[in-house]
Amino acid sequence: MAEHEGTNNGFEPEITVFTCIYCAYMAIDTAGALRINYPANVKLIKLPCTGKTDVRYLMEAFEQGADGVCVVGCPLGNCHHVHGNERGQARVKYTKQWLDDIGLGSDRLEMCFVSGGMGETFANAVREMAERLRELGPSPLK
Ligand code: FES
Repeated sequence: MAEHEGTNNGFEPEITVFTCIYCAYMAIDTAGALRINYPANVKLIKLPCTGKTDVRYLMEAFEQGADGVCVVGCPLGNCHHVHGNERGQARVKYTKQWLDDIGLGSDRLEMCFVSGGMGETFANAVREMAERLRELGPSPLK
């Protein structure tokens, strides 16, 4: 997957993606099946639902070397655990505030919502995040 143009001194960001095992994982699978390009340095971590997203998981991903973290869930109103993605969204929002407070920067964390067929939307979200991270540079926690 060639997404290496415009890199910052060859810096290719590592992105940890937390995905629910329903719509979001299906969208990622769709992206793969349709051979839609997205950055190669993506590490997937499956959760039963983004409602399981925890500030600790997100921070641990940064501590383990992620330059950015993306949480991907079912569309709002369509979570298989009813309000799980809303809870996940609230935790992402809280963590973004925290990332700003500690100087890591909220731009390194995003959440997006996709249905199973939205492989292109998932790929775009990760591509945009990778572009932003190339400009920001490596995580200072590395
Ligand atoms: Fe997908 Fe809850 S099951 S976000």
